[in-house]
Amino acid sequence: MAVLAPSILSADFSKLADQVKLIEEGGAAFVHMDIMDGHFVPNITFGGPVVKSLAGKTSLPFDVHLMIEHPEQRLADFVTDQTEYIVVHQEACEHLDRVIHQIKELGCKAGVALNPATPVSTLECILGEVDLVLVMSVNPGFGGQKFIPYTTLKVCELDEIRNDEELDFLIEVDGGVTLANAEMLVESGADILVAGSAVFGAEDVAARCREFNEIIR
Ligand code: DX5
Ligand code: ZN
Repeated sequence: MAVLAPSILSADFSKLADQVKLIEEGGAAFVHMDIMDGHFVPNITFGGPVVKSLAGKTSLPFDVHLMIEHPEQRLADFVTDQTEYIVVHQEACEHLDRVIHQIKELGCKAGVALNPATPVSTLECILGEVDLVLVMSVNPGFGGQKFIPYTTLKVCELDEIRNDEELDFLIEVDGGVTLANAEMLVESGADILVAGSAVFGAEDVAARCREFNEIIR
């Protein structure tokens, strides 16, 4: 069983609050927010003011995915009463242990993301400290890209480690998730599926969330 976290990166930014209401109506579990700085990834999206403006506009918790350099300098920008997860990239953190604990001190759950080419073994020492591992299944930076198949192996590997070591982090998959690969990802061990274009590209956004939920729940 897994839950859906639609990424508002593919939503209509001119009416974000309405778009978020649609995914709530469709049974989404989180609002996934992609924060990009034009340095860590070659694209710029939005920052703390937009995240804060959505607080109170939905009852869904926020899943904030930071694709930025020096995330440790900006963590507080993304804390709201609804921010459940703050996820930083392994590749962007020189002092990952420190950043994970900074997130927890701010009262949020801490996640770490891996780019497609970054092996799971880089997290060996920290897996007992994190609440979530986000497996990027496209190269971060843009919505609407094609799923990279080998990343599924990393989901399986994380699931195996979690079972063997009796850990309790969640596994999130982000990028190129569609109705066609959702079931396979859940069977591989994913707990949270992020979908941007596959949700907000649909004519009926709420109905598309329900379609996902029928497959993954
Ligand atoms: C990519 C982002 C993803 C992206 C997913 O850098 O982290 O969350 O918006 O979009 P789709 O589902 O369209 O691949
Ligand atoms: Zn994301």
